[in-house]
Amino acid sequence: MAMNDDLRNELALLLELGYTHLDIPAASAGAAGEAAAPGPLEERAGPTTAEIDGCDDLGTLGAVASDCLRCRLARTRTQVVFGTGSPTADLMFVGEAPGRDEDLQGEPFVGRAGQLLTDIIKAMKLSRAEVYIANVIKCRPPENRNPESDELEACHPYITRQIEMIRPKVIVTLGKFALQSLTGKTFSISSVRGTWLMHGSVKVMPTFHPAYLLRTPSAKKDVWNDMKKVMAELGIEVPA
Ligand code: URA
Repeated sequence: MAMNDDLRNELALLLELGYTHLDIPAASAGAAGEAAAPGPLEERAGPTTAEIDGCDDLGTLGAVASDCLRCRLARTRTQVVFGTGSPTADLMFVGEAPGRDEDLQGEPFVGRAGQLLTDIIKAMKLSRAEVYIANVIKCRPPENRNPESDELEACHPYITRQIEMIRPKVIVTLGKFALQSLTGKTFSISSVRGTWLMHGSVKVMPTFHPAYLLRTPSAKKDVWNDMKKVMAELGIEVPA
């Protein structure tokens, strides 16, 4: 029987994980040789949400994340991109997912969009080391495609625990997927950016993703207005 690449990869991963018994559903009416789309690996592969919730410092959480097999992105990533910056930061930037540069270097926002984010942070009179930068998805989606909803769900416990440990005063979400993951709602980013939302007791400022600013430089002034609100909230002097 011919086996397609997806099915072969799925079986290889499950065997690697120690699975010796697989519940294979009866063949459906699909075309000959057609495999069912691979489902999320959540609940089949660790770490479990309880293990993630049980981590009580960022180092331990990062080490647990580095071997993560909770979703299909584990198969294609070079490495997990956990987060960087101060573990006691007042300000946290939360982006979408690593791209090619981040996947290779293991650090969030180091490519072209990352350089723009670094410039924004500097313009706020801060440095990357003083803030904390992370993504809601810790592994690069192939070809930088949008994250799937089950991938966002599988990764969600990591950003939740990072926020609980860092306890920032303000979170800036970059783009729609970060906002969606933190609020559990689907917003139009253009309608909510610049307005304060809450994530538990933490104030959230949604703004555009730096990759969007690279394509649409005219939106930079909107992001700068949003960052001025963040600076005021953090007691940083806002330039006139
Ligand atoms: N885009 C993101 O959302 N995150 C990164 O780390 C890099 C690009």
